[in-house]
Amino acid sequence: MNDLDALVASANDLFAQSHTPADLENAKAQFLGKSGRITEMMKGMAALSVEEKKSKGAAINLAKQAIEAALNARRQALADAELQVQLKAEALDVTLPGRARARGGMHPVSLTLERIEAIFGSMGFEVAQGPEIESDWFNFTALNTPQDHPARSMHDTFYVEGGSADAPNLLRTHTSPMQIRHAVQHVKRYQALLDAGQTMPEIRVIAPGRTYRVDSDATHSPMFHQCEGLWVGENVSFKDLKVVVTDFCRTFFESDDLVLRFRPSFFPFTEPSAEIDIQFQTGSLAGRWLEVGGSGQVHPNVVRNMGLDPERHIGFAFGMGTDRLTMLRYGVNDLRLFFDGDIRFLSQFQ
Ligand code: PHE
Repeated sequence: MNDLDALVASANDLFAQSHTPADLENAKAQFLGKSGRITEMMKGMAALSVEEKKSKGAAINLAKQAIEAALNARRQALADAELQVQLKAEALDVTLPGRARARGGMHPVSLTLERIEAIFGSMGFEVAQGPEIESDWFNFTALNTPQDHPARSMHDTFYVEGGSADAPNLLRTHTSPMQIRHAVQHVKRYQALLDAGQTMPEIRVIAPGRTYRVDSDATHSPMFHQCEGLWVGENVSFKDLKVVVTDFCRTFFESDDLVLRFRPSFFPFTEPSAEIDIQFQTGSLAGRWLEVGGSGQVHPNVVRNMGLDPERHIGFAFGMGTDRLTMLRYGVNDLRLFFDGDIRFLSQFQ
């Protein structure tokens, strides 16, 4: 190998070892720069004879071209590699499925509450909300259930601070306190009409919400939901109760042949009182009586506690278990599933 071939070979090596454009330009300078090896050789030609210039000059030129070609090839290779790195870093796989935003949804019990409000709303009932921490008066005494009443034992609950020593505040055991709370407000609003012996607009209200009892199994949860209903006027009868509740149940379950039974019962705040049972005529529950709530004509003592004269105002109340209604509507057999917060269960209702 002559000197020029060796020079070209070393240029090739050096270029190959250059991994950045800056390294490559430094390497180039060693051969083609102002004092590079090729440049020096060109300068040295001046001292040569014409013959030698011809042959040596041609050889140096060939070597120079070879080095320039190698340089350009290496420049291109480095540029290509850089482009590949950049493309890889910015890669966008348009075939990947999109990242969907997780969608929230309504809880099944909330769906039921909305449905209840819509159905009773269409029958002219307002919706009232009340506190979950309740006084002994509203939860029991005003509802004709005094301190020593045995019916209290079925409503054991969670007592909280506040109230008096012998009648502490508590987590309400039913939505019935809303009967008194709402009626008292209503009567206050129309007191002038009543005092003048005129007729006040009827009380027609539902009060859905959370209730609490010391109770826990597949069909009872310490926290559960009820929906109270109250209709009081001068001429409201038990027949109206049956019509309203029957209409509601048939609409709620979308079943025209649903049968209702008003089974005699006892509640201190209604007289007479009845449990509301329903019976489906088709489906897996067909033929079975299922209890969905309590009801009755508002007791005269309760009417009095509303600020009304029981000789003039009469009405009925009902309270339905909304979790129970939800279980029946969707065929859920364990109440606790509603309150576990398991997305796999809850997402089935969307
Ligand atoms: N509050 C009663 C209960 O929880 C149900 C009820 C409401 C009964 C209204 C009669 C009238 O058991």
